[in-house]
Amino acid sequence: MTQDSARIAPEPLPPGSMVEGYRIVNKIGSGGFGVVYRAISPTGQEVAIKEYLPGALARRDGLQGVVTLAPEKNSLYRMGMRCFLEEGRALAQIDHPSVVTVLNFLHANSTVYLVMNYLEGATLQQFIMTAVSLNNPKVFRESTIRSLFDEVLGGLRVVHQHTMLHLDIKPANIFITEEDRAVLIDFGAARNVLHNDGKYLQPMFTPGFSGPEMRQRGSAIGPWTDIFAIGACIFSCMKGHPPPDAAAQEGMLRLKHYFEELRSVYSADLVDLVAACMSPTPTRRPHSVYALQKMLAPHEFVNDEPELLAPPVPLAVAIPGAKTVNPWSERIKAFSRRLA
Ligand SMILES: Nc1ncnc2c1ncn2[C@@H]1O[C@H](COP(=O)(O)OP(=O)(O)OP(=O)(O)O)[C@@H](O)[C@H]1O
Ligand SMILES: [Mg+2]
Repeated sequence: MTQDSARIAPEPLPPGSMVEGYRIVNKIGSGGFGVVYRAISPTGQEVAIKEYLPGALARRDGLQGVVTLAPEKNSLYRMGMRCFLEEGRALAQIDHPSVVTVLNFLHANSTVYLVMNYLEGATLQQFIMTAVSLNNPKVFRESTIRSLFDEVLGGLRVVHQHTMLHLDIKPANIFITEEDRAVLIDFGAARNVLHNDGKYLQPMFTPGFSGPEMRQRGSAIGPWTDIFAIGACIFSCMKGHPPPDAAAQEGMLRLKHYFEELRSVYSADLVDLVAACMSPTPTRRPHSVYALQKMLAPHEFVNDEPELLAPPVPLAVAIPGAKTVNPWSERIKAFSRRLA
């Protein structure tokens, strides 16, 4: 969810509502373009349901759950809905452990719903926050970063092979499951079409994670735009906070300064790779996700912190004294305790 979409969050369906046989349990997220619910399917399966409900264009009609909109917003609303469905259909053809699985589509309440498998775990954003609070010199170990993004890039490659783009890759849209799997969520075709109109909604992008081409009218967006965002996500895993918005001159200078700092903590190889991904000039970025994946491939680093966890620990945050062999699950549990 971006800052722009947060301003106009729509009213969610109340717990217990029925949508085509699916029972809504509770809301688990909401943004300017919809609401995500935990729900139970007619066969008793736990699912996540995303409701198309762009707050700037539509409203919920009282407790009936029906979506209403002003007549002049109808065409834009329908266009967004078509894209939401197309996005779902394209996603439904992808079967990859690092891409969220679409199970069904529903039409109800004058809108549409995307049913996905329910993921247990936490977003990468939440993991970064937990890791930062440990105050280690490295937020994530280099080997952790390489393994984690190897998985994410595996999913993104398949997305690009299906001629789709994600266009909102950021730590909040990378989910880490309790089985230690990184999964891309929140594919936003509807969001991208709606903001292109510019009449009803503010131009939408997440500062720090969007290449300059997302903001320049007439600039081509493509796989290179997702590659910029991957670089920005890796930066966040190294620094513990998002990169400055490199669209402004001042942000670009700060970014360069951060890269210099990071050289004393991570290998020059990794820092250079992230800097290349985040180049304002798309042709200077790695030329494909596959090329980036090869450059990032996990391997041993002499300057990495000693392995404190029993191998194999593909995605572990270094925790002195930890002895678990299932570090993500432990991190999730620790994270939940912190929130309790
Ligand atoms: N399949 C899923 N299983 C479990 N939780 C999910 C799932 N999909 C989404 N979520 C949760 O819901 C939150 C919001 O989902 P998502 O990122 O898709 O939408 P959003 O950011 O609100 O949307 P937008 O940016 O389009 O306005 C996620 O951060 C995650 O915590
Ligand atoms: Mg999101």
